[in-house]
Amino acid sequence: MAYAHITGWGMFVPEKILTNDDLSKMVDTNDEWIRSRTGIRERRIANEEQSSASLATEAAIRALDVANLKPTELDLIIVSSSSPEHIFPSTASLVQDRIGATKAGAFDLSAACTGFIYALDMGAQAIRSGSVRNVLVVGTETLSRFVDWTDRNTCILFGDGSGAFVLQADEKPGGVLSSVLHSDGSGGDLLTLPAGGSRFPATTATVQDGLHFIQMDGKGVFRFATRVMARATKEALEKAGLGLEDLDLVVPHQANMRIIDAAARGLKLPMEKFMVNLDRYGNTSTASIPIATVEAFEGGRLKAGDTVVFVGFGAGLTWGALAAEWSGPRPVERRVRHGWYLLFARVRSMILRVMRIIEGMLWGRFGR
Ligand code: UT7
Repeated sequence: MAYAHITGWGMFVPEKILTNDDLSKMVDTNDEWIRSRTGIRERRIANEEQSSASLATEAAIRALDVANLKPTELDLIIVSSSSPEHIFPSTASLVQDRIGATKAGAFDLSAACTGFIYALDMGAQAIRSGSVRNVLVVGTETLSRFVDWTDRNTCILFGDGSGAFVLQADEKPGGVLSSVLHSDGSGGDLLTLPAGGSRFPATTATVQDGLHFIQMDGKGVFRFATRVMARATKEALEKAGLGLEDLDLVVPHQANMRIIDAAARGLKLPMEKFMVNLDRYGNTSTASIPIATVEAFEGGRLKAGDTVVFVGFGAGLTWGALAAEWSGPRPVERRVRHGWYLLFARVRSMILRVMRIIEGMLWGRFGR
């Protein structure tokens, strides 16, 4: 039987920082309110050239570098996002092309802020089934594009960023141990981006009514989140045959410090067991868990053999948790030079486009 080990991890956030003081010049708010109610001090905002796929590509390359895996060895790419580049094509296919993952299948997954946990679980299941060996899982967001910058209830919360894991099959036990995924669509209206899909396609009226912006019942989401975080963490641990005493680190979805506090109280665990970096990035939705994990590892809070639980909640409503034994970096014999692969990917993509143009011309002349 194959186990799905987390062998690579990477993150990328835009350079531009938006502080609480900056926001106080845009809406009726202030640093003290935002910090005390959310824990957030600043967040990152994508520039015009950056997009969900470009952030994802950067995070993916970093994760492949840690795993020392060639993009051509990937079998599957799953990109979780609530701010995909388009309804279609999938952001995953754009990433596949940009990194030169020549033999990988690719699809997007939509489960809002819980998406990375769903995507990790899907990747791990695909490895366990024996159908694939190397999977790239990315959580990426540019939610700043969907925020109403005049709505102080939502614009203070969200930030842009991307995080990625590489999952690899190994016969050695470890890696992803268990997961629990939940959904309650009856709460769909608590957090929604109403227009732009098939229910309300873009019209002048939907734009005028601001239906392409995030709408949120903050208190409703808050109550739901504080109910499910501790419960889902326990469920995932139980399913893995573990107890709270085995837990080394919880990496929760970074939405609000008060929600993480409530989860810690619910589990009767000290805050030291929780990774928190929302003060610097705000809520990056599905990207928040992999970004926090990368920083936990880099800060020495996650070591090979540690038991970690990733736990999140979000629109849908969705929530879930995944328990894993942290595998740590694998020994490297010869370093993969990812710069060359990126160049190869760019050239390959260009050749494929040109070939498609030539094919179209020939088809027009000789085809039926
Ligand atoms: O990934 C999932 C994404 N969503 C979430 O995680 C959201 C979860 N919910 C929350 O994090 C919190 O509900 C918020 C941070 C959104 C709001 O905090 P709250 O403690 O629930 O505040 P509130 O909505 O009850 O508002 C309290 C007061 C209100 O004024 P009144 O009615 O008491 O006079 C608001 O109008 O604070 C006011 N307020 C603000 N004041 C300054 C709301 N937003 C702001 C603001 N600055 N940005």
